[in-house]
Amino acid sequence: MSDRDHIASDKRTIIITGATSGIGLATAKILAGTGAFVIGTGRSAERCRDAENSIRRECPSGRINYILADLSSQQQIRTLAREIRSLLADNFETPVIDTLINNAGTFSGRFTETEDGLETTFAVNHLAPFLLTHELLPLLSQSKDGRIVTVGSGSHFHAKMKWNNLQLRRFYFGWTAYKQSKLGNVLFSTEFNRRFLEKNGIRAFVADPGLVQTAIALKNSGLVVKMFWKHHIKKGATPEEGAATSVYLATSPEIHDNDAIYWKYQKPMNPNPRALNAADARTLWEISCRLCHIDNWG
Ligand SMILES: NC(=O)c1ccc[n+]([C@@H]2O[C@H](COP(=O)([O-])OP(=O)(O)OC[C@H]3O[C@@H](n4cnc5c(N)ncnc54)[C@H](OP(=O)(O)O)[C@@H]3O)[C@@H](O)[C@H]2O)c1
Repeated sequence: MSDRDHIASDKRTIIITGATSGIGLATAKILAGTGAFVIGTGRSAERCRDAENSIRRECPSGRINYILADLSSQQQIRTLAREIRSLLADNFETPVIDTLINNAGTFSGRFTETEDGLETTFAVNHLAPFLLTHELLPLLSQSKDGRIVTVGSGSHFHAKMKWNNLQLRRFYFGWTAYKQSKLGNVLFSTEFNRRFLEKNGIRAFVADPGLVQTAIALKNSGLVVKMFWKHHIKKGATPEEGAATSVYLATSPEIHDNDAIYWKYQKPMNPNPRALNAADARTLWEISCRLCHIDNWG
């Protein structure tokens, strides 16, 4: 057991990326309803405004603010972190982040590059959580109960890291890129805990939402993937059901000192053993530092 104190939901400050649709929007609504101070992020000004207005309508006492940032851009991630710091400084005497939920995610049916020259799925799904966590770590360290929840996926069970072709510049296939990025989410959380849990008590978790009825695979894909996804998600849960594990990991007192890293339906489960491989976790961390221009993090 650690000597850290659990912080109740209505006292928590929580950041949620990709909070303009699907699981992230549902997570923001539920958490604003608990009384938490919530900052959502999105890449479209219009969708940020709509999300903020709808949450304020449904939850008039909710403390919710949205900040615009395209997480495919490392410059915008760094600016986002600065804007979060300044918004918290305007609202609190001592700014703190209790939970960062790395929820934003993308699927791309074809190879595309970000403005930083990186494959987009790898950049948004893996490097963005890595860099944003790095930028916000000083504020997470101020919390007595700091948590990082990265939204993973059961697809990581079918993935392995392609170390010689990490960004799939040769033989790109959308699902391969997506599954590998989700394996990256667990490797990141594994290595984060190894480097920081003892040092500053912040714990990283992965929330697997299960199959959820969202438009994730309809946004940047061709006809075949669209048809597959529309059919496939008929069996999926609602975004609110999909948000339950993120909400639980973000706020629950029970998991305060729980060692499990991977959670689904609010229960711990074993991830793909590859995701706990110490050498792979370290290798991905070092590559991510280099790609994000970070010197020796942790
Ligand atoms: N749906 C599932 O069955 C399922 C299963 C397992 C895991 N997941 C994971 O759940 C998370 C949420 O996905 P979802 O299913 O809720 O999909 P979604 O409805 O498409 O939500 C994804 C969110 O990420 C945002 N986003 C995408 N690219 C971005 C970028 N470059 N910069 C900033 N924000 C960006 C989206 O913004 P816009 O609103 O502007 O598009 C949206 O807010 C993802 O990490 C996904 O991998 C989903």
